[in-house]
Amino acid sequence: MVEGRGVSGGTGIVILGAGQGGLQVATSLRDDGYRGAIRLVGEEPGLPYQRPPLSKAYLAGKVHEGGLDLRTEDFFREREIELLAPERALRIDRGTRTVGLASGAVLSYDRLVLATGSRNRLLTVPGATLDGVFYLRLRTEADLIRARLAQARRIVVVGAGFIGLEFASLAASLGIEVTVVEAASRPMARSLSVPMSDYFRQAHEAAGLRFLFETAVTGVTGEGGRASGVVTADGALLPADLVLVGIGVVPNVELAAEAGLAVENGIRVDEYLATGDEAISAIGDCASYPSAFAGGRRIRLESVQNAVDQARCLAARLAGRPAAYDAVPWFWSDQGRMKLQIAGLTAGHDEAVPRGDPGRGAFSVFCYGGGRLLGGGTVNRPAAHNIAPRLMARGLGVTPAEAADLGLDLKARAHALLEGG
Ligand code: APR
Repeated sequence: MVEGRGVSGGTGIVILGAGQGGLQVATSLRDDGYRGAIRLVGEEPGLPYQRPPLSKAYLAGKVHEGGLDLRTEDFFREREIELLAPERALRIDRGTRTVGLASGAVLSYDRLVLATGSRNRLLTVPGATLDGVFYLRLRTEADLIRARLAQARRIVVVGAGFIGLEFASLAASLGIEVTVVEAASRPMARSLSVPMSDYFRQAHEAAGLRFLFETAVTGVTGEGGRASGVVTADGALLPADLVLVGIGVVPNVELAAEAGLAVENGIRVDEYLATGDEAISAIGDCASYPSAFAGGRRIRLESVQNAVDQARCLAARLAGRPAAYDAVPWFWSDQGRMKLQIAGLTAGHDEAVPRGDPGRGAFSVFCYGGGRLLGGGTVNRPAAHNIAPRLMARGLGVTPAEAADLGLDLKARAHALLEGG
């Protein structure tokens, strides 16, 4: 790994954030023929790695050492991508087009990419910093949990979102007693329709998880400095030797804001992923962009797909082939034997049409707004999931009546639509 010291000569492209999005910008720039200097600044030590397995196979001990790494050290050398890690950017000076780093190095840029991602939203109740209270976003966090999981007997998970439920189902499969405390009235309410949430609730309960919905956590109790339980607003004490907090993330926008760039939930970019400063762009979890799939509304997405597709779109522009970002959003989550896949943006839908038999563990839910297909979710139906984004990218969609009609061969109908039939 290369260390930057002093004022680095040359300019080129500097990428802040060496997560999946930042790395993809660097990789795609080279694929697209960019020949200038590329410097990738990452806060975490080591090579860029994948996060999704952290709450799944990695935690289960099924990924070998280094198995998370997205690229080898040789790759960085061969593609002439300078990785500065662990290194932290402290400030952006837009006047001189430089970035000041914690090591004291100063990097000059022609173009700056902010791929700074997000960080855990913290539980702020008394006792929340006790040993035994964990978060799960970084590899170091997963390592700490892995070391404790074998001894855990009773776990409380705070938050029935994606991270909370991926972790909870894994812990339950190890025979650990798991209680999930959720502020909202149903699981994954941010992203799922009511029928899909209901299905997951029942399936997780059948697998042994216990849920407490519409329940606020007011404290974490401790014994000898270690977490021993979680207290809820109604006065219940839930004993726990491990507490996992998965209550969402907050975007890392501070560097951009301090540099005077507009922030609106995320770093504000246009459909070309450019900020108000033509030299600076932003992608991934930290960026808020106008989306055709949200009726032109500004959104901020937290997904690998969004980070990688925005990275490719931006790299193409920086290499001289500008195009507006218009990829169909999609997302997945593995929880026990259930593979959830979501396509499109279904927030604000007014009609949810289930198709298939949840009792058999494989079905879909189509979500509509004013009769227009906004997106949907599937459980254990990868083939159906693969067609949906292709339809949506073309502004096509099956009607609610077609979706509900089990006598209709939906796959054939979708292919006919794609072929213009
Ligand atoms: N107490 C209990 N529940 C809470 C609290 C709280 N104080 N605050 C928030 N919640 C709940 C929310 O209602 C939501 O159901 O926590 C859940 C958080 O879910 P997500 O927003 O999906 O966030 P998380 O599971 O932490 O995942 C973070 O990681 O898997 C990736 O990209 C994915 O955006 C996701 C990110």
